[in-house]
Amino acid sequence: MRVLVTGGAGFIGANFVRWTRAHRPEAQVVVLDALTYAGNRASLPGDVELVVGDVADAEVVDRLVAASDLVVHFAAESHNDNSLHDPSPFVRTNVVGTFTLLEAVRRHDVRLHHVSTDEVYGDLALDDPDRFRESTPYNPSSPYSATKAGSDLLVRAWVRSFGVRATISNCSNNYGGYQHVEKFIPRQITNLLDGGRPKLYGTGENVRDWIHVDDHNAAVWTIVDRGRLGETYMIGADGERSNREVVELLLELTGRPRDAYDLVSDRPGHDLRYAIDATRLRTELGWVPEYAHFEDGLAATVQWYRDNEAWWRPQKDATEAKYAQLGR
Ligand code: NAD
Ligand code: DAU
Repeated sequence: MRVLVTGGAGFIGANFVRWTRAHRPEAQVVVLDALTYAGNRASLPGDVELVVGDVADAEVVDRLVAASDLVVHFAAESHNDNSLHDPSPFVRTNVVGTFTLLEAVRRHDVRLHHVSTDEVYGDLALDDPDRFRESTPYNPSSPYSATKAGSDLLVRAWVRSFGVRATISNCSNNYGGYQHVEKFIPRQITNLLDGGRPKLYGTGENVRDWIHVDDHNAAVWTIVDRGRLGETYMIGADGERSNREVVELLLELTGRPRDAYDLVSDRPGHDLRYAIDATRLRTELGWVPEYAHFEDGLAATVQWYRDNEAWWRPQKDATEAKYAQLGR
């Protein structure tokens, strides 16, 4: 099977390539990645075929899709804070890029899996007993989540109108190795490894539903193997924690007092809580997460950043300089 992985030099895509190597050795992987600030050749095994190109470039996309049996689409601008500063690459990559890919899979009748986010559903109150399900109405808050919502709706329309063979997954917050230090968990870990302090937006009460990146990627393969075409699947591992709880755990794991963090200015429009109901994925497709305890996965992630300073160090200063400009 020839598998085209868009955005395969990013956090989840690179872990997907590594997971595929380990569990699907028969798959021939080709990565299409523009190597933006978020893409990193060093995240991929050295012998993986990498085409450096833009998912919104119809010519390169057509050529690569024509030579594939399956496309797994991760390529995106992925960081909410950046989307508040400059939304334009988000519209281009997330919306126009997905459109470009859809036209190519339509022309060549190639199976597509579109990787999306729980943020398309907006947010929940802290005490809401409900969680996001496949039927929850879309209500995105940020330019990032609006462009991901747009890309999901394009996929749904191409399935219905043109019979494109596609599935969609909407996953919660991922953590693990190879995640850019702009994101919450790696930013705090690398601050601590540098002798600095974690930075919590607002009051730290916002809740995210954490899943290990390998569990996400195993779920993507489960959907590719057994998912119903045209369907959407929620992916989540019951990992709800407030940001403050995560920071306290990281402080404990690195031997610091539990209150040694800074509260900084909040993100405009900051979604309060995400929570996933993954019943469909678990009952219909039989997926179960392997990282049953967030605390263990987090400890392994701290160790990954301790062991891989050469990977993250080149990103750190520029990232912190960007945050300093925002007062965070
Ligand atoms: P990331 O920012 O780490 O990686 C994105 C990758 O896409 C990078 O390698 C980048 O170079 C590449 N890219 C950007 N623009 C491109 C373009 N125009 N053409 C080709 N490649 C381009 O993001 P991530 O966290 O790995 O997220 C991957 C996907 O998963 C995204 O679609 C995101 O919406 C989705 N997702 C992420 C999470 C999460 O917690 N990180 C959760 C759910 C869903
Ligand atoms: O829910 C899935 C989404 O999760 C993905 O679609 C996005 O691509 C991914 O970036 C992530 O979005 P978030 O905005 O939830 O992730 P982020 O890592 O930016 O922030 C997580 C939480 O931590 C959020 O409530 C903001 C907060 N935060 C973030 C940073 C960087 C802090 O308190 N301090 C920080 O320094």
